[in-house]
Amino acid sequence: MQISENPDAETGLKRALGPFHLITLGIGAIIGAGIFVLTGHAAAEFAGPGVVISFAIAGLGCLFAGLCYSEYASMIPVAGSAYTYTYATLGRFLAWIIGWNLVLEYLATSATVAVGWSGYFNNFLASFGLAVPHAVVSAPIGVNAAGHIMMTGALFNLPAMLLVGFVTIFLVIGVKTSANFNNVMVAIKLAIVLAVIFVGFGHIVPANHTPFIPPNQGTFGQFGWTGVFRATGVIFFAYIGFDAVSVAAQEAKNPQRDVPIGILGSLVLCTALYMLMSYVLTGIAPYTSLNVAHPVSAALEALPATAWLAPYVNIGAIVGLSSVVLVLLLGQTRIFYAMSRDGLISPAFGEIHPKFATPWKGTIMTGIGCAIMAGLLPLDILGELVSIGTLAAFVIVCAGVMVLRVRAPKASRPFRTPLVWVTAPLGIAMCLFMMVFLPLDTWLRLAGWTVIGLAIYYLYSVKHAKPPRYVIAAE
Ligand code: ALA
Repeated sequence: MQISENPDAETGLKRALGPFHLITLGIGAIIGAGIFVLTGHAAAEFAGPGVVISFAIAGLGCLFAGLCYSEYASMIPVAGSAYTYTYATLGRFLAWIIGWNLVLEYLATSATVAVGWSGYFNNFLASFGLAVPHAVVSAPIGVNAAGHIMMTGALFNLPAMLLVGFVTIFLVIGVKTSANFNNVMVAIKLAIVLAVIFVGFGHIVPANHTPFIPPNQGTFGQFGWTGVFRATGVIFFAYIGFDAVSVAAQEAKNPQRDVPIGILGSLVLCTALYMLMSYVLTGIAPYTSLNVAHPVSAALEALPATAWLAPYVNIGAIVGLSSVVLVLLLGQTRIFYAMSRDGLISPAFGEIHPKFATPWKGTIMTGIGCAIMAGLLPLDILGELVSIGTLAAFVIVCAGVMVLRVRAPKASRPFRTPLVWVTAPLGIAMCLFMMVFLPLDTWLRLAGWTVIGLAIYYLYSVKHAKPPRYVIAAE
């Protein structure tokens, strides 16, 4: 058996990205609001310094999924990532389900991070005495203490919308321009993360790390080992995006070799950085003090010897979060592109610009959708949905790799998932484990999202679907 593409599947996308670009694309998508914002919350509320272990567990789960992604990406090195792989192996319906979940992972995460970015940016402006009126830096829709949706009285989050608009322009102009711009942003954020680790390491106060896992408070998930696991579900967000590398496979020069390098390289590097950074943050400041919107600068400010670095962290976060929005929006446009070429969504998403060689109409529509979400919705509503949708997509990818080993055992696999019958089930188990620790509300929202997706599928996609482009054919 082998995987082949229909002859009409020629694309206009440029193969412009090498291994270096792909690793930086991965880092660009990965390091962002997770480490800069959520670490403090996870440490203060659930795990204490044990959040380092939470990062290790989530990183391991992602590594198993990443190994499965890599096998797929090397076999089917085209745009669309998990959506395309699933179409080729498990059929159109599951492909739609996964594509619809990927919208949560990419579009909703971009909007979430844009809102987080706006918080840092406004703080930055305020430090120069440039306060922007609250009505235009905040979402009109919010969640009250009882968890109910309410109107806040604000108009929209203008900075978040402007960031998305700016990023969209880059994406229309070209993938190489975007990747180069991303490289610069990744260099800045890596420099800041490394500076925090190196400066902070020498100033760790051992008492802050004792006990490393604070005893459970009597409630499930509040410290102790259950707290470490609960924190894993929260900080999983910090890993979202490593699979963005596979989305750009059709624009990679040598995808079979370089996409696995990009996925695994960026994932391993970021896991190490996250563990070190959370170790340092909980070491220089008591974990109880970290439940703030800017935990990294707050931790540095706890000690005179490290406080000087805090303003640079804010700049690093502003730059770092911008690159997450850039790469995830890039990923979303390529998934829509693939879905449109299969006829599941409007053909406009598949039109390539003759000069820029990018799916320009789809990019602009995606940018508008993201800007609206970022402008109107708060972090609480956006952030919750994202992790569960992503984890569900990872489960299907791990399952799909095993299905393909059975259905097409002889297909060429430039990258083979090592010990696939152990790795893939462990990937599934760990992702399901992290899903179980997410609140019931999040599961209900996922169900609501799925119902909307099924309505679109049956009302539009089924009627417009084209024959599959990637088919498993007998040799
Ligand atoms: N992993 C990305 C972040 O932490 C989504 O912002």
